[in-house]
Amino acid sequence: MFTSQLVKRFSKLSTPFYYYDISVLEKNLDSLSHLLKPFNKVFFSVKSNTNPKILKTINNYNLGIDAVSFNEIKHCINNGFNCDDIVFAGVGKTDREIENGIKNNISYFNVESLQELELINSLSNNLSKVTNVSIRINPNIKCDTNKKIQTGSSDDKFGIDLNDISYIPKLNQLSNINISGIHFHIGSQLIDLSPFISLCKKSNEITSYLKENGLNIKTINVGGGLGIDYEEPEKNLISNFKDFIHLFNTKINLDDNQSIHFELGRSIVGQCGFLVSRILYSKKSYNKNFLILDSGMNNLIRPALYNSNHKISNITSNQNTYLNYDIVGPICESSDTFARNYPLVKSERGDLIVFHSCGAYAESMSSNYNLRDNINSYFSDTI
Ligand code: LLP
Repeated sequence: MFTSQLVKRFSKLSTPFYYYDISVLEKNLDSLSHLLKPFNKVFFSVKSNTNPKILKTINNYNLGIDAVSFNEIKHCINNGFNCDDIVFAGVGKTDREIENGIKNNISYFNVESLQELELINSLSNNLSKVTNVSIRINPNIKCDTNKKIQTGSSDDKFGIDLNDISYIPKLNQLSNINISGIHFHIGSQLIDLSPFISLCKKSNEITSYLKENGLNIKTINVGGGLGIDYEEPEKNLISNFKDFIHLFNTKINLDDNQSIHFELGRSIVGQCGFLVSRILYSKKSYNKNFLILDSGMNNLIRPALYNSNHKISNITSNQNTYLNYDIVGPICESSDTFARNYPLVKSERGDLIVFHSCGAYAESMSSNYNLRDNINSYFSDTI
């Protein structure tokens, strides 16, 4: 993947930077698109990556957008997406954001509380519109992922309580909304797909309850959450869309006019991105070997925030002995640590270090903390 020619090119660039391998992105998009049936639609969860070049590539594959702020919606419109391919989720949309969503005729809102539903109805009334909404339901399903990115258990702030679904058919009588679907998202970075089986069961129970009570919805949006391989990314560059899509297509009971919607982020973009950084210093302190890089938690916050592991490679060293390193950034706090006791070839000041699997929630979560510079991105097809 990192040929000597590419490494030579990298060494002329100022670090740190993000590098995107567009062919990996396209392979994931090809694989996903080929599995979709006419009753499936995928919305790219743009919070995972907002880079315009990535969005343009995704737009070539006819995906919609799952946005969580009006700024994300605006950004996607500016990058060529149609409003009627955009769904608007988020547990705390402001009145202004809702108004803007209504005015721009987005496809539908994923609504997270009964109060929000009433607000959308009243704002739609002011604008003389009828707005499509999909009700996000918290199905109370626990999954085996980091607690911070689990979203579908009874402790989590998202969606409405399953016990409140009896209100939904009555609320559809509000004059300026149309309840066109239901929505779920139980968590992110799920490798074991069994929680999705539980989700399908709950979803089937809910749709038949709604139908018995006179509400025929059009869309069942099952969210995203399909995980990627952070440990051996090169072996699994293409996500397991096959099992994921098949599971829902076989386990969700669908009426003729109904579709299954997916909101996928990480599984589409996760493996195409890399953070490339340079070693500023190496030092031994007490019993530890530290490598101090020129990228920090402001560029890649996942290890500090979620204790997550990214594969790390030295792509310039010719050494063949290995040492265990604490690999850290320059930010003034100890949480700015990418990995502890990480086995790496003997590394020196000036060597280039690559963090793998940085296509999702890396560049989009970066900041200027410590007033550090914005970071550049480069692409395999133009570098
Ligand atoms: N739909 C909803 C309603 C979501 O909240 C999310 C992600 C997705 C779809 C897309 O999930 P994905 O397919 O990417 O797993 N910053 C964390 C991940 C936060 C996920 C937030 N919600 C991380 O770096 O791991």
